[in-house]
Formats: sequence, C-alpha cells, structure tokens
Amino acid sequence: MRRLAAALLLLAPPAAAAEGEAVFRRHCANCHALAPGAPPGPGPHLGGLAGRRVGGDPGFDYSPVLQAANEAGQRWDVAMLERFLADPEAMYPGLWMGANGVREAGDRAAVARYLAAQDTP
Ligand code: HEC
Repeated sequence: MRRLAAALLLLAPPAAAAEGEAVFRRHCANCHALAPGAPPGPGPHLGGLAGRRVGGDPGFDYSPVLQAANEAGQRWDVAMLERFLADPEAMYPGLWMGANGVREAGDRAAVARYLAAQDTP
C-alpha cells in the first residue's frame, strides 16, 4: 500500500505537466512561442515567464496597458497567470490579446504551472 502511494506521488507531477502542455497547445500555441530562441508570433514569446516582467519580450510590440504594467515593474507568477487567464481583459483593460483565456479553473491552474516551469526565454 505504501509502495502504491509512493508510485502515485511519482506519477502526479508529469501527468499535471502533460495536462498543462495539452491546454497550451489547444488554446495558446497558435499565437505564443515557447521554444528557446523562437521569434514571437502574433503574441509575445512566453518562455521564462515565472518572475519575468509583464510585457517583457523585447522583440514584441505591446499594447499601452501592458507597457504601463511593465513600467510599473509588475512580474508574472503562477497566481497572477491564473487570475489573468480567468479574464484577461478584466485584468488589463484594452489588452490586445484577442483570446478569451481559459474557462475551466483546473485547466487554468495546469497551464499556469506548465508555463511557470518553462525557463527558456
Ligand atoms: C489570438 C492570439 C492569442 C492567443 C490564442 C493567446 N494569446 Fe496570449 N497574447 C496575445 C497577444 C497579441 C498578447 C499581447 C497583448 C498586448 O500587447 O496587449 C498576449 C499576451 C499574453 C501574455 C502577457 C505576456 C507578457 O509578456 O507579459 C500572457 C501571459 C499570455 N498572453 C498568455 C496566454 C495563454 C496562456 C494563452 C492560452 C490560454 C494565450 N495567451 C492565448 C495573443 C494570444
């Protein structure tokens, strides 16, 4: 029994990461690059997002609302990403993202944790 519990614990993190990756591919990858050194697409590159300044892809031309958040020194973390994805426009009125975020809280949590674990800028 104890061995089974240990095996389940070992299985949990990769399963969650796979779920986050699946959400990213379905809802975000059309616009956002994650691969190291990839150019920004219609949206900014999202590598290295944990601790990164909002509006922090130097190769991307951000909306005034994200430029202002950048100048104010705001930085991304998992909790902030989850809040953003619940309603991106509510958090940053005037955002140019052209996408609605993620409806399911579990999917938001999975993709936020997945993104925070990508350390390649
Ligand atoms: C239709 C294209 C599109 C889709 C789909 C999309 N985004 Fe975006 N995203 C953008 C654009 C464009 C911006 C920049 C908005 C601005 O400048 O106001 C952006 C900005 C962001 C930012 C801020 C980045 C920074 O550098 O501060 C995050 C985080 C983000 N998107 C996450 C996501 C996630 C996660 C998904 C999927 C659930 C997603 N986006 C889906 C186009 C998209």
